[in-house]
Parts: sequence; C-alpha cells; structure tokens
Amino acid sequence: MIPTHVSIIMDGNGRWAQQRHLPRTFGHKEGAESVRACLEAAIEAGVKYLSLYTFSEENWNRPQAEVSGINSLFVTVMARERKNLKDNGVRFLVIGNRSRLSADLLHDIEELEAYTADCRTLTLMVMFSYSGKWDIVQAVNRYREDIAAGKVDASGQIDIAGYEKYLSTAGFPDPDLLIRTGGELRISNYMLWQCAYSEFYFTDVLWPDFRKTEFRKALDSFENRQRRYGEIN
Ligand code: IPE
Ligand code: IPE
Ligand code: MG
Repeated sequence: MIPTHVSIIMDGNGRWAQQRHLPRTFGHKEGAESVRACLEAAIEAGVKYLSLYTFSEENWNRPQAEVSGINSLFVTVMARERKNLKDNGVRFLVIGNRSRLSADLLHDIEELEAYTADCRTLTLMVMFSYSGKWDIVQAVNRYREDIAAGKVDASGQIDIAGYEKYLSTAGFPDPDLLIRTGGELRISNYMLWQCAYSEFYFTDVLWPDFRKTEFRKALDSFENRQRRYGEIN
C-alpha cells in the first residue's frame, strides 16, 4: 500500500557539506534539490500528503549566519518553485510558529499558500519554526481561548477528537510513514502527537543524497509493515 501521508525529518545537510569542505549552507542548498526530487517521487507514487521538517524551533538557536541563510534559501526556493508547484497541483502550506517569522518571509508564504490553495494532487506541508511541544501547547491555549469565549462547552472533560482540532495539523491525516535521514535515531521534537502510530524509517543517507531511489526504498519498506494499532490480527 502507498502511504497517504509521508513525513520526513530531513537531516544531514551540514555533515554533507562538511565532508566536502564546504560551508554548511551548501548542504542546505543541495538539500533543496532533494526536496524537489522527493516531491516528484511522491506525486508519481500517488502520495497525497508530504510533510517536511525543514526548520525546528530549536534551530533558531543556531549561529545567526546559518539561520538567516536557511531563511533566505526558503524565500529563493518558494519563488523558484512557484509555477512548478501550481502546474503539478501541489497545495503549499507552512506549519509552525509564525510569530517568529519575519514580515517579508510571512508575506511570501501567505502569497504562495493563496496561489496554490485550490491545488489537490498533493498537499505539501513545510514544517518551519515547528516543534511538537509548541504544537501541543498552542493547541491547549487556543482551546482555552475558545472556552473563555464561550465557543466550546467546557462542562465536560477534554476529549481527544475535540482537542485534535486545535493542533496545527488539524484536518490532515497523521503521518503513515515517517522517514529520518542522516543516521540519528530520534524524533527531535517533531510531530509528537501525530506520530503515535506512524511507521518509522531511519537511514544513514544524508538528506542531500536522498533522492528518488531512496524515497522509493522507503515506500518499499512501508509495503512490508504490518500495522496493528494495538490490536491482534
Ligand atoms: C538538517 O540538516 C537541516 C536543518 C536542521 C535545518 P542539519 O543542518 O541538521 O545537518 P547536520 O545534522 O548538522 O549534518
Ligand atoms: C531535526 O534536525 C530538525 C530538522 C531536520 C529540521 P536537527 O539536526 O535539528 O536535530 P538534532 O539536533 O540532531 O536532534
Ligand atoms: Mg542535524
């Protein structure tokens, strides 16, 4: 079966560059090419949702030069891929803590989101300034605001379905397959809630080297998984 939602922790850009005695930014640039390749492979395979961990909340703590390099690369790639996304029916969305983004970056994001809003072949979720703990807490806060405003009934217990509506990924299916490149065996504060029953695929391949063949290998691995959701079958 093809996973409906594939999510990727795109790790290893810095090491890829260091191995070549290049500045880390070169790794991020090359990583953008892997995004393009995996997006194509996902469309070809019939994947409906692709979410990409592009920049975590913790990544803001990196040296200023790297942070601004990644931010400006994001702007460049959005401009470059604009037509390509639309032509291929890709709905572009950014999910994360927007309060930390610059006005210019926000403007470009909102413009591209509006431009691709009707696209339905694949939904691309760029997880930027995102962290799983931030997501859970912002959901609690928005839930509380709605209770205070009298929009939800606060007399009973909070239930899972009611709470999930406040997560930043509300309305989208949870990841079926979570890929992490770059050799680390951890989740690094990614979609902590949403990955409750995701199938994990870890590879040592560094993100800039993760292209179509590698993406298809991950899909093949998913084919052989038996998902049980705690039941017996
Ligand atoms: C992933 O690559 C991209 C971001 C976290 C922004 P890294 O930059 O973490 O690369 P490594 O892990 O240092 O090789
Ligand atoms: C995870 O990679 C975040 C992204 C890929 C955007 P990191 O490189 O930030 O993770 P750690 O620090 O190795 O856990
Ligand atoms: Mg890393």
